[in-house]
Amino acid sequence: MDKFIICGGKRLDGSVCAQSAKNSVLPLLAASVLTGDPVVIREVPDISDVHCMAEILQEIGAEVSFAGGDVRIESLHAGNHSIPPTLTRELRSSVFMLGSLLARFHRAACAYPGGCDIGLRPIDLHLNALKRLGVSIREREGYITCECDRLTGAEIALDFPSVGATENILLAAVGAEGTTVLGGAAKEPEIVDLQNFLNAMGANVRGAGTDVIVIKGGLPLHGATYTPVKDRIEAGSFLIACAICGGEVEVEGVGGDTLGLLLHKLRENGCKIHTKNDKIKIASTGSLRCNRKIETMPFPGFPTDLQAQMTALNAGAEGVSVIVENLFETRYKYVPELIKMGADIEVRGRNAVVRGAGRLHGANVACGDLRGGAALVLAALGAEGVSEVSDLSYVDRGYAGLEQKLRALGADIRRIREE
Ligand code: EPZ
Repeated sequence: MDKFIICGGKRLDGSVCAQSAKNSVLPLLAASVLTGDPVVIREVPDISDVHCMAEILQEIGAEVSFAGGDVRIESLHAGNHSIPPTLTRELRSSVFMLGSLLARFHRAACAYPGGCDIGLRPIDLHLNALKRLGVSIREREGYITCECDRLTGAEIALDFPSVGATENILLAAVGAEGTTVLGGAAKEPEIVDLQNFLNAMGANVRGAGTDVIVIKGGLPLHGATYTPVKDRIEAGSFLIACAICGGEVEVEGVGGDTLGLLLHKLRENGCKIHTKNDKIKIASTGSLRCNRKIETMPFPGFPTDLQAQMTALNAGAEGVSVIVENLFETRYKYVPELIKMGADIEVRGRNAVVRGAGRLHGANVACGDLRGGAALVLAALGAEGVSEVSDLSYVDRGYAGLEQKLRALGADIRRIREE
């Protein structure tokens, strides 16, 4: 797998445009097979998760073609409702396919989904909700088979605002006869994007962004051309990179309201932040104060997908910080790698106590998951000396052209391709 060679200590200055949101494009791709008409999703990021989802669509019989940054899906002749285990274990988002395959074919099968190793990641909320819509589900030897004569609208209440379960329910409920009322829904901006896309296809979904979503199912769905929202987690990662390195960076395409508490936390670190429409400008001296506490919560709380990056920031700041990861059980696998760079971090279950080292030093480190890998890249950018960050396939799952974007801002980073 490839590695980065990073010479730390360079300021970051300039502007960077956020890519389309990975966590929106993936459910949109799943939604595209709700109709046999052609669907075009614009400006999709060139990341491996998107290509893996495209492979899944091809496996069910859809024609998928990439051109000029857009992807076109035509699933008129699709008919295979079973997703190969190799693909579902590689990509957690494959579980969204259950909802759309059931809505289209009333049948779906997949292995228990995999994805980054950040926690148990069960899918009980997904399966219980599908049963409420009339689906019978068999689970055997890690394989899930779903079928129904028809989908029927229902009242569903989620015990936890699961992003994926909310999306899966929307995808199935648009194919159900009657109305579905989903309570306890996740409120992430990517849910609103999925609602807008489904409505562009002729569906009637209302309430996304709040915790009650109403889906009037059974409407005929047609093709659409759609441009997804921008990636707030990629944008947040660049803001944190500038905070760590020092400099002035403007991130375009994402509004401050989509980043939860991140901007407030960066101001606590001593950064200056200005937001205007979909532009966020950050100025940092690079000498930062630790956050007293960062606690991840469902949107609009502090995003779990920026926890690792902010831990890296605090590891090189002054003071002591307590990080609390409420969403996933083991989202600290990157910590031993940060410790190789001089970080002083003690993990106790869901908590991590970070004693700021003032500045980290370069080291050879390895990525173990997508956002933990991004955190190692950010730490290396701010560290004293040279670092090697290996196993970049994890980072390539979610960041398109990361080294090009960072180099354009002044970072000294290059990729070494390794077989
Ligand atoms: C989505 O994952 C995102 N992935 C994740 O981003 C993100 O971290 C997460 O939402 C939370 O915001 C995509 O959108 C593709 P959840 P998802 O269901 O849907 C538990 C990244 O880095 N849970 O909201 O899997 C689960 O175990 C990725 O881009 C159940 O218990 O997240 C977890 O502890 C990582 N039962 C918590 O809920 C279920 O049936 C949050 O999971 C489903 C989830």
